[in-house]
Amino acid sequence: MGPVDEGEKGTGGAAEGPGRGSDFLQLDIGDAPAGGKAEWLARRLRQAIADGRLAVDSRLPPTRVLAAELRVSRGVVTEAYRRLAEDGHVQGRRRGGTVVVAAPSPLPAPPPAGASRPPVPAAAGDAVTPAALFPGSPGAEIFEALRDVRARVDFTPGRPDLAAFPRASWLRAERAVLAELSAEHLGYGDPRGAPQLRRAVAGWLARGRGIRVGPEEVLIVAGTAQALTLLNPVLLADGIDRVAVEDPGSLGTRQHLLHGGLATPPVPVDEDGVRVGELRRTGARAALLTPAHQFPTGVVTSGGRRRELLRWAGDGGLIVEDDYDAEHRYDRPPVPALRALLADRVCYAGSVSKLLAPALRIGWLVPPPRYRDALVEAKRFTDLGNAVLPQLVLARLMDSGELERHLRQLRARHRRRRDAMIGAIAEHLPGAVVHGAAAGLHLTVTYPPEVPDTALAAAALARGVKCQPLSWHRQLPGRPGLVLGYAATPAGAIAEGVAALGAALRELA
Ligand SMILES: Cc1ncc(COP(=O)(O)O)c(C=O)c1O
Repeated sequence: MGPVDEGEKGTGGAAEGPGRGSDFLQLDIGDAPAGGKAEWLARRLRQAIADGRLAVDSRLPPTRVLAAELRVSRGVVTEAYRRLAEDGHVQGRRRGGTVVVAAPSPLPAPPPAGASRPPVPAAAGDAVTPAALFPGSPGAEIFEALRDVRARVDFTPGRPDLAAFPRASWLRAERAVLAELSAEHLGYGDPRGAPQLRRAVAGWLARGRGIRVGPEEVLIVAGTAQALTLLNPVLLADGIDRVAVEDPGSLGTRQHLLHGGLATPPVPVDEDGVRVGELRRTGARAALLTPAHQFPTGVVTSGGRRRELLRWAGDGGLIVEDDYDAEHRYDRPPVPALRALLADRVCYAGSVSKLLAPALRIGWLVPPPRYRDALVEAKRFTDLGNAVLPQLVLARLMDSGELERHLRQLRARHRRRRDAMIGAIAEHLPGAVVHGAAAGLHLTVTYPPEVPDTALAAAALARGVKCQPLSWHRQLPGRPGLVLGYAATPAGAIAEGVAALGAALRELA
């Protein structure tokens, strides 16, 4: 039977991941020669089957989905699948979609085995004034303090649309997992994570981020936060006591490094990404970076800068790659993770916090081989491993294709909200500049006149709108701005919230 295209319903026919759309194998149609797209696609798929990114038994995305993703006609994808079927690599399975049945060459063998700032006053209900919530130097409690404050419109960055959490799918998957679960599964699990989830994550990373790893290289953790907490002592034991960070860069992740006793020298970010010359000048042997979508500026590390970074890493540097929201992209082709290019020098961290919900506290760490054992030990002594049941449910959602379907829905919804925010900014914040809106769940806006962003955020909160000042995420001086999450807010509320920001700015100017 030739390739078929009925993979929309996860029928569980294929053992490995479903290989549906989103960021599929990092394919960029811009690389295809005009007039030769089907052959180009077939060649890229053959390569992926040969090198194990598309494992035997995994399902190719439905042709409709991949065609939409690549912005080609469906005929191009159908023709590519037909060629693969012709040379025996894939087979159509009616309701199971098109499945990889043979690799052209053997699959690769798995590789061998500081003090935080002073705290802000605790949020005590209405007693805390908006100004007190936006100090110039926020402490570790700041995020909880701000979360406790109710606001009419919440632009806190870093949250997907939590109202869209796929409750029905989760329940269905949990019921199925419980029905199949043996009693042993309810005992202590593998501290590295449930094998099912490590396998599913390896497939997810191969398809979506271009990372080729075996399940034994994946460590399941309680989010990027725990990944950093586990990593800190391992780095210190390796003689690394400073981790350079982007500037501006995430206050939250920097706080985790500081808490672990690591210094965080800042390195400026420009429109190509982090400045590698300045990174070298810090003398730090490690850097925490967000290359796919820099937090908070949204810059995508350019090709030239990626090569410079890889040279720095090749000279002995370690990149801690925080891939916090790379799945959410709108107007740009996917960029592969740095971990896909330099496995020995990149420690990769990701999580479901932006994909499903931060409350799940599930993430993954793919460390360089030399740190793996120490990290497994750190995880074992921290908590003996993540809770097993949610891991099995997540593995099932990944394997059945439901997670990718959810991601596609989220993307469409988030894109509408992003567009609504950009439109509202043009209307209510004239002269403001929007940064980094091509991907992610937030954008950053800088504005004239340059009133302090902490004052603007406080004035906005007084008008019922919550957001974060850009200066919180800076160690070096720089322009004021606001970091505005749009993904969790409906378009109408976005317009209302941005109008209030405009009014707050006019009041302060
Ligand atoms: C830059 C950055 N990295 C990582 C995370 C996610 O952390 P976790 O996976 O622990 O939820 C966030 C959350 O907002 C973030 O902003």
